Amino acid sequence: MILEALEWLATPCPRPLRDMGYLSELIAIGARHRRCRAAWADHLSRSRQAILDAAAQAPNRRKAIVLGSGRLLDVPLAALAAQFESVTLVDAVHPLAARWQARRQANVTLVTRDVTGIIDALHRWRPGEPLPVPRSLDMIHAPDVDLVVSLNLLSQLGVLPSEWIEKRAGPAGHASAEALSAALTRTHLDDLARCAGRVCLIGDVEWWRASADGTVAERSSSIDGIEAPTALAEWIWPMAPAPEADPLLSEFRRVIVARDPGKSAQAG
Ligand SMILES: C[S@@+](CC[C@H](N)C(=O)[O-])C[C@H]1O[C@@H](n2cnc3c(N)ncnc32)[C@H](O)[C@@H]1O
Repeated sequence: MILEALEWLATPCPRPLRDMGYLSELIAIGARHRRCRAAWADHLSRSRQAILDAAAQAPNRRKAIVLGSGRLLDVPLAALAAQFESVTLVDAVHPLAARWQARRQANVTLVTRDVTGIIDALHRWRPGEPLPVPRSLDMIHAPDVDLVVSLNLLSQLGVLPSEWIEKRAGPAGHASAEALSAALTRTHLDDLARCAGRVCLIGDVEWWRASADGTVAERSSSIDGIEAPTALAEWIWPMAPAPEADPLLSEFRRVIVARDPGKSAQAG
């Protein structure tokens, strides 16, 4: 608790992001990782390996960009920094631990950026006004970008924006919240499909809650019902083993790795 309170006070984070829960979420991930370290180990190690596999196939080794770098739990940072001329870590909020880690590598840069482009406008939004429209992230389309990693980010893009809309508009905002969440997910996938360099998408596409005997109580898409890209690999992440979020039910996520998602569809 004390650790989390200190992190809340010390982490640089603009007001809109604090108000909308981005910093709390980042701190909660750290706390949950400390509690569920063993259950998360396989997911984190597979994520890191998927990035290294994609890096090995990048056409050149100029710039690598990691979107959703967060606490760097799933980023093989030293290996990426050794392989690429430069590595850019992008997140809406960078925790202090990631800032310190990045500082140790001369060719690693942190960029604080909302990949959806809507957070500031959504923070100012009032019920009855049109919702902001998600934007493409220019930096991933620069000609020297040889690798873009979307890292356990896709399912998260709509979560806090939807909650913010429902907090402001109440149940009447539910349909708009769902529509915006789907638009954020879709725009990110379309943006990745237009990248010229190699793209590695790692993210959960489905979640479910199950009891100890395997009975599934609830199951849903974690990407707004949008069809998931073709998976090169997939695994199950026990994200919240009981009693982490529920005394009896454990929450699982199906995580996929997709290489250059949507590119063949764009070409065709
Ligand atoms: C589940 S975490 C990914 C795990 C992360 N690599 C780690 O080790 O902590 C999702 C990350 O996406 C970031 N994120 C969520 N929405 C974002 C947005 N609109 N723009 C940029 N980053 C965002 C969060 O801040 C968080 O760090």
